[in-house]
Amino acid sequence: MLIDTSRANLLITGGAGFMGSCFIRQLLKDPLFTGKVVNLDALTYSGNLDNLKVFEEDPRYLFVKDNILNQNLVEKLLFEEKIDAIVHFAAETHVDRSISDASAFMQTNVLGTTSLLEAVRKYPHVHFHHISTDEVYGALGDTGSFSEDSSYLPNSPYAASKAASDHFVRAYGKTYGISTTISHAGNNYGPCQYPEKLIPFIVTQLLKKGALPLYGKGDNVRDWLFVEDHANAVRLILEKGRSSEVYNIASSQEITNLGLTKLIIKLFARKTNSDIEELESLITFVEDRPGHDFRYSMNTSKIANEVGFVPKYALQEGLSETVSWYLENTSWLKNVLNEEYDTWVESQYEACK
Ligand code: DAU
Repeated sequence: MLIDTSRANLLITGGAGFMGSCFIRQLLKDPLFTGKVVNLDALTYSGNLDNLKVFEEDPRYLFVKDNILNQNLVEKLLFEEKIDAIVHFAAETHVDRSISDASAFMQTNVLGTTSLLEAVRKYPHVHFHHISTDEVYGALGDTGSFSEDSSYLPNSPYAASKAASDHFVRAYGKTYGISTTISHAGNNYGPCQYPEKLIPFIVTQLLKKGALPLYGKGDNVRDWLFVEDHANAVRLILEKGRSSEVYNIASSQEITNLGLTKLIIKLFARKTNSDIEELESLITFVEDRPGHDFRYSMNTSKIANEVGFVPKYALQEGLSETVSWYLENTSWLKNVLNEEYDTWVESQYEACK
Protein backbone atom coordinates (compact mmCIF):
# COMPACT_ATOMS: atom_id res chain seq x y z
CA MET A 1 0.00 0.00 0.00
CA LEU A 2 1.34 3.46 -0.95
CA ILE A 3 -0.85 5.57 1.35
CA ASP A 4 -3.59 4.61 3.78
CA THR A 5 -5.91 7.37 2.58
CA SER A 6 -8.40 6.80 5.43
CA ARG A 7 -5.86 8.00 7.99
CA ALA A 8 -3.44 10.11 5.96
CA ASN A 9 -2.76 13.82 6.25
CA LEU A 10 -3.06 15.08 2.69
CA LEU A 11 -2.01 18.38 1.18
CA ILE A 12 -4.31 19.00 -1.76
CA THR A 13 -3.19 21.78 -4.11
CA GLY A 14 -5.93 23.49 -6.10
CA GLY A 15 -8.55 21.97 -3.83
CA ALA A 16 -11.06 24.75 -4.48
CA GLY A 17 -11.14 23.93 -8.18
CA PHE A 18 -13.47 21.58 -10.00
CA MET A 19 -11.51 18.31 -9.78
CA GLY A 20 -9.68 19.03 -6.52
CA SER A 21 -12.85 19.96 -4.66
CA CYS A 22 -14.57 16.77 -5.80
CA PHE A 23 -11.63 14.76 -4.45
CA ILE A 24 -11.87 16.60 -1.11
CA ARG A 25 -15.67 16.16 -0.90
CA GLN A 26 -15.29 12.43 -1.50
CA LEU A 27 -12.74 12.13 1.30
CA LEU A 28 -14.63 14.25 3.81
CA LYS A 29 -17.94 12.53 3.05
CA ASP A 30 -16.29 9.24 3.92
CA PRO A 31 -17.13 8.61 7.60
CA LEU A 32 -14.09 6.32 7.84
CA PHE A 33 -11.72 9.15 6.93
CA THR A 34 -9.92 10.14 10.12
CA GLY A 35 -6.97 11.94 8.51
CA LYS A 36 -6.63 15.58 7.60
CA VAL A 37 -7.14 17.54 4.38
CA VAL A 38 -5.12 20.71 3.94
CA ASN A 39 -6.41 22.59 0.91
CA LEU A 40 -3.84 24.99 -0.55
CA ASP A 41 -5.46 27.14 -3.21
CA ALA A 42 -4.63 30.60 -4.58
CA LEU A 43 -8.30 31.15 -5.51
CA THR A 44 -7.58 32.40 -9.01
CA TYR A 45 -10.49 32.86 -11.44
CA SER A 46 -11.77 29.28 -11.37
CA GLY A 47 -11.14 28.41 -7.72
CA ASN A 48 -14.33 28.62 -5.69
CA LEU A 49 -14.79 28.01 -1.97
CA ASP A 50 -18.53 27.53 -2.53
CA ASN A 51 -17.49 24.07 -3.77
CA LEU A 52 -16.55 23.12 -0.19
CA LYS A 53 -18.88 25.27 1.90
CA VAL A 54 -20.42 22.38 3.80
CA PHE A 55 -17.03 21.33 5.15
CA GLU A 56 -15.86 24.75 6.41
CA GLU A 57 -16.35 23.73 10.05
CA ASP A 58 -15.15 20.14 9.65
CA PRO A 59 -12.22 19.59 12.08
CA ARG A 60 -10.56 17.34 9.49
CA TYR A 61 -10.34 20.24 7.00
CA LEU A 62 -8.04 23.26 6.77
CA PHE A 63 -8.07 25.84 4.00
CA VAL A 64 -4.96 27.89 3.23
CA LYS A 65 -5.16 30.65 0.63
CA ASP A 66 -1.79 30.91 -1.08
CA ASN A 67 0.12 30.05 -4.19
CA ILE A 68 1.98 26.78 -4.76
CA LEU A 69 4.98 28.90 -5.74
CA ASN A 70 5.36 29.90 -2.08
CA GLN A 71 7.84 27.13 -1.29
CA ASN A 72 8.49 28.31 2.29
CA LEU A 73 4.81 28.06 3.10
CA VAL A 74 4.55 24.61 1.53
CA GLU A 75 7.51 23.41 3.58
CA LYS A 76 5.90 24.84 6.72
CA LEU A 77 2.65 23.01 5.95
CA LEU A 78 4.46 19.73 5.27
CA PHE A 79 6.13 20.02 8.65
CA GLU A 80 3.40 21.49 10.87
CA GLU A 81 0.50 19.49 9.45
CA LYS A 82 2.54 16.26 9.35
CA ILE A 83 1.67 15.71 5.71
CA ASP A 84 1.97 12.17 4.32
CA ALA A 85 1.20 12.95 0.67
CA ILE A 86 0.63 15.84 -1.73
CA VAL A 87 -2.09 15.42 -4.32
CA HIS A 88 -1.28 18.10 -6.87
CA PHE A 89 -4.38 19.34 -8.70
CA ALA A 90 -3.46 23.05 -8.93
CA ALA A 91 -3.03 23.98 -12.59
CA GLU A 92 -4.02 26.32 -15.35
CA THR A 93 -6.13 23.99 -17.46
CA HIS A 94 -7.97 25.77 -20.26
CA VAL A 95 -6.46 25.16 -23.70
CA ASP A 96 -7.96 28.30 -25.27
CA ARG A 97 -6.52 30.52 -22.54
CA SER A 98 -3.09 28.93 -23.10
CA ILE A 99 -3.37 29.80 -26.79
CA SER A 100 -4.14 33.46 -25.90
CA ASP A 101 -1.30 33.70 -23.35
CA ALA A 102 0.91 30.86 -22.12
CA SER A 103 2.68 32.73 -19.32
CA ALA A 104 0.39 31.69 -16.44
CA PHE A 105 0.69 28.08 -17.66
CA MET A 106 4.47 28.17 -17.40
CA GLN A 107 4.26 29.82 -13.99
CA THR A 108 1.72 27.55 -12.33
CA ASN A 109 2.11 24.28 -14.20
CA VAL A 110 5.87 24.19 -14.63
CA LEU A 111 7.39 26.44 -11.95
CA GLY A 112 4.61 25.71 -9.44
CA THR A 113 5.11 21.96 -9.78
CA THR A 114 8.90 22.17 -9.43
CA SER A 115 8.49 24.42 -6.41
CA LEU A 116 6.36 21.73 -4.73
CA LEU A 117 8.90 19.07 -5.67
CA GLU A 118 11.67 21.16 -4.13
CA ALA A 119 9.64 21.33 -0.91
CA VAL A 120 9.20 17.53 -0.95
CA ARG A 121 12.99 17.11 -1.28
CA LYS A 122 13.21 18.51 2.25
CA TYR A 123 10.54 16.07 3.52
CA PRO A 124 11.32 12.95 1.50
CA HIS A 125 8.80 10.74 3.33
CA VAL A 126 6.02 12.71 1.55
CA HIS A 127 4.50 10.95 -1.47
CA PHE A 128 3.79 13.19 -4.49
CA HIS A 129 0.83 12.44 -6.76
CA HIS A 130 0.66 14.55 -9.90
CA ILE A 131 -2.64 15.10 -11.73
CA SER A 132 -1.92 15.27 -15.44
CA THR A 133 -3.76 14.94 -18.72
CA ASP A 134 -4.13 12.73 -21.79
CA GLU A 135 -3.26 15.81 -23.86
CA VAL A 136 0.48 15.28 -23.24
CA TYR A 137 0.32 12.37 -25.70
CA GLY A 138 -0.96 14.58 -28.54
CA ALA A 139 -3.84 13.76 -30.87
CA LEU A 140 -5.19 10.59 -32.49
CA GLY A 141 -6.97 9.97 -35.80
CA ASP A 142 -10.16 7.92 -36.06
CA THR A 143 -8.64 4.82 -34.47
CA GLY A 144 -6.17 3.70 -31.80
CA SER A 145 -5.58 4.73 -28.22
CA PHE A 146 -2.71 5.92 -26.06
CA SER A 147 -1.08 3.80 -23.39
CA GLU A 148 1.17 4.82 -20.50
CA ASP A 149 4.12 4.10 -22.82
CA SER A 150 3.00 6.41 -25.64
CA SER A 151 5.38 9.20 -26.68
CA TYR A 152 4.87 12.73 -25.48
CA LEU A 153 3.67 14.91 -28.37
CA PRO A 154 1.87 17.89 -26.79
CA ASN A 155 0.20 20.24 -29.26
CA SER A 156 -1.10 23.20 -27.22
CA PRO A 157 0.86 25.45 -24.86
CA TYR A 158 -1.31 24.00 -22.07
CA ALA A 159 -0.38 20.42 -23.00
CA ALA A 160 3.30 21.40 -23.31
CA SER A 161 3.25 22.89 -19.82
CA LYS A 162 1.69 19.72 -18.38
CA ALA A 163 4.21 17.57 -20.28
CA ALA A 164 7.04 19.64 -18.80
CA SER A 165 5.64 19.23 -15.31
CA ASP A 166 5.32 15.46 -15.80
CA HIS A 167 9.00 15.32 -16.78
CA PHE A 168 9.99 17.21 -13.65
CA VAL A 169 7.99 14.81 -11.47
CA ARG A 170 9.68 11.84 -13.09
CA ALA A 171 13.11 13.47 -12.88
CA TYR A 172 12.75 14.32 -9.18
CA GLY A 173 11.70 10.74 -8.53
CA LYS A 174 14.73 9.37 -10.36
CA THR A 175 17.28 11.93 -9.15
CA TYR A 176 16.26 12.49 -5.54
CA GLY A 177 14.38 9.28 -4.79
CA ILE A 178 11.07 11.05 -4.11
CA SER A 179 8.07 8.71 -4.15
CA THR A 180 5.85 9.81 -7.05
CA THR A 181 2.84 8.71 -9.10
CA ILE A 182 1.31 10.45 -12.13
CA SER A 183 -2.18 10.08 -13.53
CA HIS A 184 -3.32 11.15 -17.01
CA ALA A 185 -7.03 11.82 -17.15
CA GLY A 186 -9.39 12.28 -20.07
CA ASN A 187 -11.93 15.13 -20.21
CA ASN A 188 -13.56 15.47 -16.79
CA TYR A 189 -17.09 16.83 -16.42
CA GLY A 190 -19.65 17.19 -13.63
CA PRO A 191 -20.92 19.63 -11.00
CA CYS A 192 -18.87 22.72 -10.05
CA GLN A 193 -16.94 22.97 -13.33
CA TYR A 194 -16.12 26.53 -14.34
CA PRO A 195 -18.22 27.31 -17.42
CA GLU A 196 -15.36 27.85 -19.85
CA LYS A 197 -15.10 24.12 -20.56
CA LEU A 198 -17.39 22.68 -23.23
CA ILE A 199 -20.11 21.01 -21.13
CA PRO A 200 -20.81 23.74 -18.55
CA PHE A 201 -20.35 26.37 -21.25
CA ILE A 202 -23.08 24.77 -23.38
CA VAL A 203 -25.41 24.53 -20.37
CA THR A 204 -24.74 28.17 -19.45
CA GLN A 205 -25.41 29.29 -23.02
CA LEU A 206 -28.64 27.24 -23.10
CA LEU A 207 -29.81 28.99 -19.94
CA LYS A 208 -29.20 32.33 -21.69
CA LYS A 209 -30.60 31.07 -25.02
CA GLY A 210 -27.26 32.19 -26.46
CA ALA A 211 -25.18 30.82 -29.34
CA LEU A 212 -23.57 27.39 -28.88
CA PRO A 213 -20.23 27.83 -30.66
CA LEU A 214 -18.68 24.58 -31.89
CA TYR A 215 -15.19 24.70 -33.32
CA GLY A 216 -14.78 23.57 -36.94
CA LYS A 217 -17.45 21.02 -37.86
CA GLY A 218 -17.98 19.79 -34.29
CA ASP A 219 -16.49 16.45 -35.29
CA ASN A 220 -13.59 16.36 -32.83
CA VAL A 221 -13.86 13.47 -30.41
CA ARG A 222 -13.40 13.47 -26.65
CA ASP A 223 -13.68 10.68 -24.06
CA TRP A 224 -15.72 12.02 -21.12
CA LEU A 225 -15.06 11.00 -17.52
CA PHE A 226 -17.40 11.91 -14.68
CA VAL A 227 -15.45 13.83 -12.04
CA GLU A 228 -16.56 11.51 -9.19
CA ASP A 229 -15.06 8.59 -11.11
CA HIS A 230 -11.84 10.54 -11.52
CA ALA A 231 -11.62 11.30 -7.79
CA ASN A 232 -12.23 7.64 -6.98
CA ALA A 233 -9.48 6.59 -9.43
CA VAL A 234 -6.96 8.96 -7.82
CA ARG A 235 -7.75 7.60 -4.36
CA LEU A 236 -7.27 4.03 -5.63
CA ILE A 237 -3.88 4.97 -7.12
CA LEU A 238 -2.82 6.48 -3.79
CA GLU A 239 -3.90 3.31 -2.01
CA LYS A 240 -2.94 0.56 -4.39
CA GLY A 241 -0.62 2.10 -6.98
CA ARG A 242 3.10 1.60 -7.21
CA SER A 243 5.63 4.34 -6.66
CA SER A 244 7.24 5.80 -9.84
CA GLU A 245 4.32 4.53 -11.94
CA VAL A 246 2.03 6.33 -14.37
CA TYR A 247 -1.69 5.52 -14.73
CA ASN A 248 -4.19 6.56 -17.40
CA ILE A 249 -7.74 7.31 -16.20
CA ALA A 250 -10.57 7.27 -18.74
CA SER A 251 -14.07 5.96 -19.15
CA SER A 252 -13.96 4.84 -22.82
CA GLN A 253 -17.08 6.80 -23.74
CA GLU A 254 -16.09 8.69 -26.86
CA ILE A 255 -18.39 11.10 -28.64
CA THR A 256 -18.04 13.97 -31.13
CA ASN A 257 -18.55 17.50 -29.82
CA LEU A 258 -21.66 17.83 -31.98
CA GLY A 259 -23.07 14.53 -30.69
CA LEU A 260 -22.37 15.59 -27.12
CA THR A 261 -23.98 19.01 -27.62
CA LYS A 262 -27.12 17.38 -29.01
CA LEU A 263 -27.24 15.03 -26.03
CA ILE A 264 -26.95 17.97 -23.61
CA ILE A 265 -29.72 19.78 -25.51
CA LYS A 266 -31.97 16.70 -25.27
CA LEU A 267 -31.46 16.44 -21.50
CA PHE A 268 -31.81 20.18 -20.98
CA ALA A 269 -35.02 20.31 -23.07
CA ARG A 270 -36.52 17.42 -21.11
CA LYS A 271 -35.71 18.98 -17.74
CA THR A 272 -36.89 22.49 -18.68
CA ASN A 273 -39.82 21.62 -20.99
CA SER A 274 -38.11 23.40 -23.86
CA ASP A 275 -38.31 22.76 -27.58
CA ILE A 276 -35.37 20.63 -28.81
CA GLU A 277 -35.38 22.04 -32.36
CA GLU A 278 -35.36 25.60 -31.11
CA LEU A 279 -32.37 24.84 -28.86
CA GLU A 280 -30.54 22.98 -31.64
CA SER A 281 -30.88 26.05 -33.84
CA LEU A 282 -28.51 27.80 -31.39
CA ILE A 283 -25.63 25.57 -32.56
CA THR A 284 -23.18 27.77 -34.47
CA PHE A 285 -20.07 26.41 -36.19
CA VAL A 286 -17.18 28.80 -35.62
CA GLU A 287 -13.54 29.06 -36.66
CA ASP A 288 -11.54 26.08 -35.46
CA ARG A 289 -9.20 26.22 -32.44
CA PRO A 290 -5.59 26.52 -33.70
CA GLY A 291 -3.82 23.15 -33.46
CA HIS A 292 -7.10 21.55 -32.36
CA ASP A 293 -6.43 17.94 -31.29
CA PHE A 294 -8.81 15.71 -33.24
CA ARG A 295 -9.34 12.85 -30.84
CA TYR A 296 -8.19 11.53 -27.45
CA SER A 297 -8.51 7.96 -26.30
CA MET A 298 -6.59 5.97 -23.71
CA ASN A 299 -6.16 2.29 -23.01
CA THR A 300 -7.06 1.82 -19.35
CA SER A 301 -6.06 -1.80 -18.75
CA LYS A 302 -3.20 -0.81 -16.41
CA ILE A 303 -5.37 1.11 -13.94
CA ALA A 304 -8.06 -1.58 -14.13
CA ASN A 305 -5.63 -4.44 -13.52
CA GLU A 306 -3.33 -2.83 -10.96
CA VAL A 307 -5.66 -0.79 -8.77
CA GLY A 308 -9.07 -2.15 -9.76
CA PHE A 309 -10.53 1.07 -11.16
CA VAL A 310 -13.81 0.73 -13.05
CA PRO A 311 -15.77 3.90 -13.90
CA LYS A 312 -19.30 3.84 -12.45
CA TYR A 313 -20.98 6.54 -14.51
CA ALA A 314 -22.33 6.04 -18.03
CA LEU A 315 -22.11 9.27 -20.05
CA GLN A 316 -25.89 9.75 -20.28
CA GLU A 317 -26.24 9.32 -16.50
CA GLY A 318 -23.36 11.64 -15.60
CA LEU A 319 -24.54 14.25 -18.08
CA SER A 320 -28.08 14.12 -16.74
CA GLU A 321 -26.77 14.64 -13.20
CA THR A 322 -24.56 17.49 -14.40
CA VAL A 323 -27.33 19.33 -16.27
CA SER A 324 -29.63 18.97 -13.23
CA TRP A 325 -26.90 20.30 -10.95
CA TYR A 326 -26.48 23.48 -13.02
CA LEU A 327 -30.25 23.95 -13.17
CA GLU A 328 -30.55 23.55 -9.40
CA ASN A 329 -27.49 25.60 -8.42
CA THR A 330 -28.28 28.90 -10.05
CA SER A 331 -26.66 30.93 -7.25
CA TRP A 332 -23.35 29.06 -7.74
CA LEU A 333 -23.52 29.88 -11.43
CA LYS A 334 -24.60 33.49 -10.84
CA ASN A 335 -21.53 34.04 -8.65
CA VAL A 336 -19.13 32.88 -11.35
CA LEU A 337 -20.83 34.63 -14.27
CA ASN A 338 -19.18 37.93 -13.40
CA GLU A 339 -17.63 40.69 -15.48
CA GLU A 340 -14.37 38.78 -15.86
CA TYR A 341 -16.27 35.83 -17.30
CA ASP A 342 -18.26 38.00 -19.75
CA THR A 343 -15.07 39.71 -20.93
CA TRP A 344 -13.47 36.32 -21.57
CA VAL A 345 -16.47 35.00 -23.53
CA GLU A 346 -16.73 38.15 -25.62
CA SER A 347 -13.02 38.15 -26.40
CA GLN A 348 -13.17 34.49 -27.35
CA TYR A 349 -16.38 34.16 -29.33
CA GLU A 350 -17.53 36.54 -32.05
CA ALA A 351 -20.79 34.54 -32.05
CA CYS A 352 -21.44 35.43 -28.39
CA LYS A 353 -21.00 39.20 -28.66
O1 DAU B 1 -8.40 15.76 -22.22
C1 DAU B 1 -8.22 16.31 -20.96
C2 DAU B 1 -8.28 17.80 -21.08
O2 DAU B 1 -9.59 18.14 -21.39
C3 DAU B 1 -7.82 18.53 -19.83
O3 DAU B 1 -6.50 18.25 -19.56
C4 DAU B 1 -7.98 20.02 -20.04
O4 DAU B 1 -7.61 20.71 -18.88
C5 DAU B 1 -9.40 20.33 -20.39
O5 DAU B 1 -9.52 21.70 -20.68
C6 DAU B 1 -9.87 19.49 -21.56
O6 DAU B 1 -9.34 19.97 -22.80
P1 DAU B 1 -10.28 20.16 -24.07
O7 DAU B 1 -9.68 21.19 -24.93
O8 DAU B 1 -10.60 18.86 -24.70
O9 DAU B 1 -11.63 20.68 -23.31
P2 DAU B 1 -12.67 21.82 -23.70
O10 DAU B 1 -13.82 21.65 -22.78
O11 DAU B 1 -12.04 23.15 -23.80
O12 DAU B 1 -13.13 21.39 -25.16
C7 DAU B 1 -13.69 20.13 -25.42
C8 DAU B 1 -13.89 20.02 -26.92
O13 DAU B 1 -14.90 20.95 -27.31
C9 DAU B 1 -12.67 20.40 -27.73
O14 DAU B 1 -12.64 19.59 -28.91
C10 DAU B 1 -12.89 21.85 -28.12
C11 DAU B 1 -14.40 21.90 -28.26
N1 DAU B 1 -15.04 23.19 -27.94
C12 DAU B 1 -14.79 23.73 -26.71
C13 DAU B 1 -15.38 24.92 -26.34
C14 DAU B 1 -15.09 25.54 -24.99
C15 DAU B 1 -15.92 23.78 -28.83
O15 DAU B 1 -16.17 23.27 -29.94
N2 DAU B 1 -16.50 24.96 -28.46
C16 DAU B 1 -16.26 25.56 -27.26
O16 DAU B 1 -16.83 26.63 -26.99
